[in-house]
Amino acid sequence: MSAARIAVLVSGGGTNLQALLDAQGKALQSGRIVLVVSDNENAYALRRAEAANVPARALARKGFPSQEAFEAALRAELDAAKADLIVLAGFLTILSQDFTARWPRRILNIHPSLIPAFCGKGFYGLHVHEAALARGVKVTGATVHFVNEIPDGGEIVLQKAVDVLPGDTPELLQRRVMEQAEWLLLPQAAELVSQTIVKERATNDRFS
Ligand code: GAR
Repeated sequence: MSAARIAVLVSGGGTNLQALLDAQGKALQSGRIVLVVSDNENAYALRRAEAANVPARALARKGFPSQEAFEAALRAELDAAKADLIVLAGFLTILSQDFTARWPRRILNIHPSLIPAFCGKGFYGLHVHEAALARGVKVTGATVHFVNEIPDGGEIVLQKAVDVLPGDTPELLQRRVMEQAEWLLLPQAAELVSQTIVKERATNDRFS
């Protein structure tokens, strides 16, 4: 049975992309990464894709006159790669309703907090951990959710809690949340949705 075809969208360092690449054939059995797209041509994530021999494209958001033009180019890449599932792994461009509505329950995002805490517009990367420390929470974590038109507002798929420790800085907390939650949850969630895609395909084949 052929694996679900996964496209991973990135903007930065790509440690979550690396976790997905490393999980292939292990925690991620039912899906295969066939494309990486970055909205930042300098993202280190692009080098991780190249090192793993996965086709990688840079589509700099600022190179397009509008969000519509950017999303049209992105859709063309996804269609050419025949992507079944899109995984946002530290991807910082907010996608429009027009885009997300075309992929119901087929776009996953990883967010570095326990949604609904510290999420929505402006909460990304280190800012999320700065906000958690400023509020004084004792537990934070990560969430994988389906993506809809509301930033961080789609249905929750998986969550994992991580302790905040005395003396934490945003950087220390970010690293702990990545190690203890993000790098485990994202491959697990990609596997869950990939399994659904593979099963759906088998059912469709049987009735076509
Ligand atoms: C990760 O912590 C991810 O959860 C976060 O950006 C980081 C990207 O790191 N995403 C968001 O904040 C989205 N709202 P990475 O490039 O090393 O995977």
